[in-house]
Amino acid sequence: MTAIQTLRITSEPFGTMPDGTEVLLFSLANDRGMEVKVINYGGIITAIKVPDRNGDIADVVLGHDSLDGYLNHSRYFGALIGRHANRIARGKFLLNGVAYSLPINSGPNHLHGGSQGFDKVIWTPNKTDNGLELHYRSRDGEEGYPGNLDAIVTYGLADENELRIEYRATTDRDTIVNLTNHSYFNLAGGGTILDHEVQINADAFTPIDETLIPTGEIKCVQKTPMDFTSATSIGARINEDDEQLRNAGGYDHNFVLRQENSAFTSAAKVYEPKSGRVMEILSTEPGLQFYSGNFLNGSIIGKAGRAYVKHSGCCLETQHFPDSPNHPNFPSTVLKPGEEYQHTTLFRFSAE
Ligand code: GLA
Repeated sequence: MTAIQTLRITSEPFGTMPDGTEVLLFSLANDRGMEVKVINYGGIITAIKVPDRNGDIADVVLGHDSLDGYLNHSRYFGALIGRHANRIARGKFLLNGVAYSLPINSGPNHLHGGSQGFDKVIWTPNKTDNGLELHYRSRDGEEGYPGNLDAIVTYGLADENELRIEYRATTDRDTIVNLTNHSYFNLAGGGTILDHEVQINADAFTPIDETLIPTGEIKCVQKTPMDFTSATSIGARINEDDEQLRNAGGYDHNFVLRQENSAFTSAAKVYEPKSGRVMEILSTEPGLQFYSGNFLNGSIIGKAGRAYVKHSGCCLETQHFPDSPNHPNFPSTVLKPGEEYQHTTLFRFSAE
């Protein structure tokens, strides 16, 4: 267990929702110069400040300076995603023989929990010894999903510059659940992520069709641009003439993580050569959605007036596989009454 002795949590007002609800900004800080900021709208991580190899601090996630930015111009920046991360084909799935229909909000598909997913709701905050705990009760039928679902997410910050995100959920009816966090990282604190070197602990990925839905195949990464088994810069192969890269306009793929004989799998390592910043990701989840910020096109102006152009940030979302409910060969995302959904992901920051 990593130490969190020096964790300090403070809060201040961040803004007001259109219905008058106050949104709070929480700051988690340790004695090593690391700070993580979170708002209780969408459980959004608005900032992660970490030192480089010279001790200079930069904010390594994309986002907005104000609530208005998150309400009107966001692409899931830093947000909690639920009930079911990523896409569900045509918004349809069967559970116990019953057909469910979810809102279509991305081409022909359902994406990231629908039009009012967990990224767009107010979470109830609670400061605990382990960090900032956020609770949200999603009602039976909300965004088409069955069962009342109680979700609790805890953001912790250890002295080792480790951000720990713990997800738990329970339901009163059979349902599906797949939670993650959608932070866009840029370890240089500016520019694009094309020079970032990425290593992903995966021998296989799940190929997608033109609508970004998995075909169901589990394909070996070897001899494809998806081979990140050794550290490779994101830009090295991103423009290769490859059907998978064309379908997504870059990387937007689920990697099948190697299962290790411990609770946590070391999922990925990202290294930014200029600053020396390193981010290691460890997780209990079977998959990692690696997204190279392909939909960003410069139209969103983020923190400090910066225009977020294509590849300004990349997401590494630990989760179950996209469209799991429609693929019996993927690990199941079904949650039943009496069970507890549990997922923990660690983001370890350092510099080399
Ligand atoms: C995920 C998806 C992408 C995209 C982003 C948000 O990473 O896989 O296709 O929808 O979220 O823009």
